[in-house]
Amino acid sequence: MNFVAYNPTRLVFGAGSLSKLGELTSPYGKKALIVTGGNSVKKSGVFARAVASLNAAGVAVAECAGIEPNPRITSVKRGADIARAEKCDVVIALGGGSAMDASKVIAAAALYDGDPWNLIGHGQENWAIPKQALPIITVPTLAATGSEMNAGAVISNEETKVKSFVQAECLFPKVALVDPELTLSVPQDQTAYCVCDIITHVTEGYFNGVDGTPIQDRFAEGVIINAIEWGKKAVADGNNLDAREQVQWASIVALNGWVQAGTSGGYPVHMIEHALSAHHDITHGAGLAIVNPAWMRFAAKSRPERFAQFAERVFGLSPAGKDTTTLALEGIDAYVTFLKEIGCPTTLSEVGIGEELFEQYAKDAVLVVRDKEGNLLGRPPMSQDDIVAVLRSAL
Ligand code: NZQ
Ligand code: ZN
Repeated sequence: MNFVAYNPTRLVFGAGSLSKLGELTSPYGKKALIVTGGNSVKKSGVFARAVASLNAAGVAVAECAGIEPNPRITSVKRGADIARAEKCDVVIALGGGSAMDASKVIAAAALYDGDPWNLIGHGQENWAIPKQALPIITVPTLAATGSEMNAGAVISNEETKVKSFVQAECLFPKVALVDPELTLSVPQDQTAYCVCDIITHVTEGYFNGVDGTPIQDRFAEGVIINAIEWGKKAVADGNNLDAREQVQWASIVALNGWVQAGTSGGYPVHMIEHALSAHHDITHGAGLAIVNPAWMRFAAKSRPERFAQFAERVFGLSPAGKDTTTLALEGIDAYVTFLKEIGCPTTLSEVGIGEELFEQYAKDAVLVVRDKEGNLLGRPPMSQDDIVAVLRSAL
């Protein structure tokens, strides 16, 4: 193992912690841009409570509402314009991963003179990876992406139908204020998709990483086992605060760099899903529930022992009397059973996607994260034909 781990975000976690927003924001400035999604934070009263806390600490507020799921670059531009016009010192994301990702790029775009789409990697020659951004504070209302405590953001270009990412040190939030009470209102289907997203963040590193990472393996298995156990409870009863808390903590550790440290894996399932949601605007976690099992069946052929370990350790399946491949496939079946149990789609047809654009998705998936031969990074690396074959198996 050979790695650098770095995460400067201050995490403030706990039910009721929203009331600390003002005191946590005031060191970063006198005026905050609050970035929100649709109407959920207004309906739940969370927006009003956030503004009250900020005002009580002497922080004035401007607003950029209406960030859509699978946030668009046009919304980022709009947000950056508001931040500049209102002379905001700090950007607060109050919402799900979409509001958080948009906030990060708004914070960078507010200090950047060019087209904000240059900040997102999409195969361009000169990727303007941001070097500076306004201070960012994340207040997640959904437990899924881990965006609250990482330096990544995923943005879609509605014109070119490309959904891609940026990762930069200046995008690490200064503070992640995580109050699991804010997730009590998340609907049942969305909760299930979010649990799938959390698990997939961990499986990407677990299956695509280097050999010889026994400590990371156990971390990963622990996060997955708990996301399954508490995820089921959160889906069954959205008002179960204990379950919401555990799922939210899982979402943070799943993608704040901790579980992945030293594994050096690619994110093939995410790259393929991003291509799907770019064209069809499907929910990210639902897309992952479809792509991940299909990808697992493909990848298990070249690394069956790792998938057998997953079957044994995560689902408690017995290896007795089975060859490695049989056990590996049984583990993937058990995972699919779990996804169905919580209400996730597991085939493309369930979300209305056919095979018409398979070649296009494959092309889009390798736009940024690819090796010298143009294959999608992962274990094993995937040619565009491999991607099409995986998608075909998910029909
Ligand atoms: O828009 P509002 O009205 O807030 O409603 C949202 C939206 O409809 C709703 N919601 C959020 N909190 C709620 C709530 N409804 C009721 N009560 C609440 N407390 O949920 C819907 C989905 O919201 P969204 O923010 O889109 O979901 P999520 O957190 O899953 O974010 C998905 C986006 O994050 C990207 C995805 O690709 C996708 O664009 N990702 C970002 C990552 C990162 N930055 O590290 C990594 C991920 O792998 C992912 O790619
Ligand atoms: Zn994800």
